[in-house]
Amino acid sequence: MFKKRIAALVVGVVALHGVSALADTKQVEVMHWWTSGGEAKALGVLKDGLKQRGYTWKDAPIAGGGGEAARTVLKARVASDNPPDAIQMLGFTIAEYAEQDYLANLDPLAAKEGWDKVVPAPIQRFSKHDGHWVAVPVDIHRTNWIWANKKIFDQLHLTPPQSFDQLVADAAVIRKAGYIPLAHGGQPWQEATIFDSAVMSAGGPKFYTQALVNLDPAALGSKTMEKAFDQMRALRGMVDPNFPGRDWNLATSMVINGKAAMQIMGDWAKGEFVNAGKKAGTDYLCFQYPGTQGDFIFNTDQFATFKKGDAASPGELAFASTVMDKGNQAKFNQIKGSIPARLDVPADGLDECGQKSMADLRTALKNGTMVGSFAHGHAMPDGPKNAVYDVVTHFFNSNQSSADAVKQLVQAINNAK
Ligand code: BGC
Repeated sequence: MFKKRIAALVVGVVALHGVSALADTKQVEVMHWWTSGGEAKALGVLKDGLKQRGYTWKDAPIAGGGGEAARTVLKARVASDNPPDAIQMLGFTIAEYAEQDYLANLDPLAAKEGWDKVVPAPIQRFSKHDGHWVAVPVDIHRTNWIWANKKIFDQLHLTPPQSFDQLVADAAVIRKAGYIPLAHGGQPWQEATIFDSAVMSAGGPKFYTQALVNLDPAALGSKTMEKAFDQMRALRGMVDPNFPGRDWNLATSMVINGKAAMQIMGDWAKGEFVNAGKKAGTDYLCFQYPGTQGDFIFNTDQFATFKKGDAASPGELAFASTVMDKGNQAKFNQIKGSIPARLDVPADGLDECGQKSMADLRTALKNGTMVGSFAHGHAMPDGPKNAVYDVVTHFFNSNQSSADAVKQLVQAINNAK
């Protein structure tokens, strides 16, 4: 009888503290939204790295570019007290979970491995909460890119447009030749990704910061912001009729297959070209959205680990170490299309687009002009971000005037603040 009671007690304790009891099992559950061909391949580097550290990877993929679906699932899992061990997170979302004390403090590992010295400050700002490491960055993506089919550009004697007006003129030439000028997927986060570039092109890094980071009503309601919406309107005229709802990687395929000439997308799109065996400079071109040459709008994928009791589990620490491993970051980013989050990884393994990104990053870091992507959660917290998503998407999918969109933008931020 006594024995039975003890056994029941043990079962009860394990059930109650299921999370901490499992914390020592050799499995790490990782939630992410890397489900496209290129993304899944890049993820393989981290899976192998974790395995080499003696842990099994339990995959929890939630499809949906930009991670909105993953954020919704995470909320539900946290509400039912069953968060994954590690999860891909962007920008302000990290602070949101850290604020509620869900995330493990990774300071001892950070100190042991010297992360402070190798991760650029604008990224550490999101990896740390109240001065403590709570997330590990694996890459630095950039959103103000255009990916172009080189064969179409050569056939039509086009070169990367240096001004927005030139882009509009080129699009007309492309359309006349029977190609779709711009491959686009009509999902709010993709429209927001284009908006990153339009705002930067219309006003430059200072204006971008005033409007989308400082949320200054004067900048949000300005004529310069109207120009950004004018650009969005012109871009809307370059897409095909089947754009609504299309996934970003299917839009990339249209450029790879020569149906469309260009896509405006972060450099995860390059991961799809790489995965299709295409070469930069030979099969496709990468250049900055006109008017943003040299500007660096960054988006960095980080992984946060959920607290097990007071701290991280051994498996979570092994995972964090895998993500921060220099060799893993070198390999991962060649496949993913991004550049390493560690500045001490040499550029030699990167193709010409990656090398350009790295050079521009160093210049932007020196000049203090590296700005966070609004679309990918690095400019403003999720509340106002979602409100601006609505304004941008409504504009893109209606005949609203730029002047009215700007008014709505000011209002939306005012309500969300
Ligand atoms: C992530 C990228 C990802 C892209 C499309 C972005 O939010 O930062 O890593 O490739 O979404 O899924």
